[in-house]
Amino acid sequence: MADRTPMKPPESAIKAYFTPHSIADFMAENSQVRKDAKIIDPAAGEGVFVETLLSRGYRKVWAIELENECYKKLKERLKSRNGFRLLAGDALDPKTLGAWSTGSFDVVVGNPPFSHQRGRIEDPEILKHYELGRPKQAVEILFLERFIQLARPTGLVRIILPMNILANTNLQYVRDFILKNLWVEAVISLPRHTFGGTSAKTAVLFGQKKGKHWKLGGGFWSQNGVRVIRLPDLDSIEGLKDLSMGEHKTGLTVMMGQMKKRMDPDYHFANREISEMLRGSKVPFQPLSALVDVRTGFAKYGDDASKILTTQPRGKKDRYIRLLKAKNLSIYGFDFRKHKFFLRRDQDIFRSWACVDVGDVMVVRVGAGCVGRAVAVIDEKQAGQADDWILIVKPKRINPSFLAFYLNSSIGRAFVMREAQGTGALSISKGKLLNVKAPMLPEQAQARFETELREMYGAFDRGAKNRAESIFKSLEEELSRLVLR
Ligand SMILES: C[S@@+](CC[C@H](N)C(=O)[O-])C[C@H]1O[C@@H](n2cnc3c(N)ncnc32)[C@H](O)[C@@H]1O
Repeated sequence: MADRTPMKPPESAIKAYFTPHSIADFMAENSQVRKDAKIIDPAAGEGVFVETLLSRGYRKVWAIELENECYKKLKERLKSRNGFRLLAGDALDPKTLGAWSTGSFDVVVGNPPFSHQRGRIEDPEILKHYELGRPKQAVEILFLERFIQLARPTGLVRIILPMNILANTNLQYVRDFILKNLWVEAVISLPRHTFGGTSAKTAVLFGQKKGKHWKLGGGFWSQNGVRVIRLPDLDSIEGLKDLSMGEHKTGLTVMMGQMKKRMDPDYHFANREISEMLRGSKVPFQPLSALVDVRTGFAKYGDDASKILTTQPRGKKDRYIRLLKAKNLSIYGFDFRKHKFFLRRDQDIFRSWACVDVGDVMVVRVGAGCVGRAVAVIDEKQAGQADDWILIVKPKRINPSFLAFYLNSSIGRAFVMREAQGTGALSISKGKLLNVKAPMLPEQAQARFETELREMYGAFDRGAKNRAESIFKSLEEELSRLVLR
């Protein structure tokens, strides 16, 4: 097929995140098929996958690229390479490749664009070709389906994806689609900053398109489970090399059934850490869904930021209410010394349902260092409106002070971090917080934690941070003694 001239104007203003050579090489290393196999990268960029494959001796390497600039560079650089076919155009549009080659590739490999780069696809003429097509679909979700469409039955699919596809509750339908269409061989989480210029959390999904004879494809799918690997840094890819070889130091084998709800490696590693930590514990644990209700706070920033006061208003005190932000919450209690925020009850930024009272627990929803940090409201002076970076927890069957301490303890934190997720900032959703499990200690034991926690909050409020830290430490020891013995 002759190369076509791109129909789209150059869009060099849009930043594409190209894959490091070591990752492309690793993906090729783990796609060992015959040298005459048909391989395609449908979003080729500057051609890192194409070059890797050609230099490994593959003779039928195809590529598609939408951007004029990238297309021209790639064409120029690789024009003399035998067996290379470059198409210009939209890989999501079946016309670009021709319907006849859909489902004909032995390997489909690449790093498609993510929606934060190019927004969402809204064109019904494109969306109609996709089972996952829905109004305003994320480009990476359509590319994932396109990769699978392009592979022949038992063909290999190797694709870099943003972590939300593998973890977010609202994208469960995408994981269901993956499991319906692919035998998942491995999922490897890449370190943040793998792609220069973005800290997005990403992973490589290795799968084999389902077909009658799975052995034909040359992949390494095994009934024993999926290889789940967490790469601590880019250099450690060197130590991984061949995924088909037994166990890996950095890896776990996870049964397919356990991949249904979450496919992100961090979740499975956290799960293992929790079961190792709690091995032998006699204390029953229950999910928070059985113990609490949760809602999200509220505060519009942007235009409304000017409505938030940072000094305590004088007079007419009941016209104002405290606004509680993540900055006010520390594991030792409330911090109102450095940060004070107030808003007026008669302004549209006020919401009565976002107010917290004595007996509620506030949990920070977003932020790498502070996600899951919890504080119990134990005094009316601490009441106020929580902003929307905070989840408001109403305990029904657990002591609020115990719960607040527990979420900050190393055991509680392990559960919180298992549930936290984020391609960008790390966050915990309402639904995921309800998956966190808490130990069912007797009421008197929980009450003892409450007494100590009041003491700790008081010390912290007086500025006696050392005292507060030492109470926290002794509570940690007490919790471990009760739960882990
Ligand atoms: C994330 S970059 C990755 C490029 C290359 N595969 C790599 O890993 O270095 C995605 C590439 O896909 C191209 N692209 C975006 N939308 C496309 C589409 N609909 N069809 C084909 N290529 C597209 C972009 O221009 C960009 O070069």
